[in-house]
Amino acid sequence: MALRKIVVQGDECLTKKCRVVTDFNARLHMLLDDMAETLVDSGGVGLAAPQVGVLRRVCVVMNEDDEIIELINPEIIATEGEQTGLEGCLSVPGKYGIVTRPYIVRVRAQDRNGDYFEVEDEGLTARCFCHEIEHLDGHLFVEHTDRLLSGEELEEFIRQQEEEDE
Ligand code: NI
Repeated sequence: MALRKIVVQGDECLTKKCRVVTDFNARLHMLLDDMAETLVDSGGVGLAAPQVGVLRRVCVVMNEDDEIIELINPEIIATEGEQTGLEGCLSVPGKYGIVTRPYIVRVRAQDRNGDYFEVEDEGLTARCFCHEIEHLDGHLFVEHTDRLLSGEELEEFIRQQEEEDE
């Protein structure tokens, strides 16, 4: 396994529509292993193949049990509810935005052997499914937000939220 370099906003890989995976071979398995290692190393919760310069429909998501879910050719097949909250991206370092997403998201995808499965989750992981799958069509979360927050503004936002919750 090896760490892959994460490209940042401005790189054309992040604006391209990724191609469907048809070969579930050792090369794909190496990509998945490297993406998982890169995700853990970065401290993020999701990573899509175009973020490491590979224009294929592949992403990895870490759920709230710290399990890595490998999604190949994923599609969102059902959503429920709504959540509005902070979102960031490893390819847009140091910037955060308020984005509204469905609260529950169900995804149909293939695993590393090409077998179809469905997975459903809520909250942060549901948000992550939406975010990563959008990367595969060349979209970034910044398209859903009016204003990006810097690190300092983010701290202020979190402070306000905590005060509201008290
Ligand atoms: Ni992202």
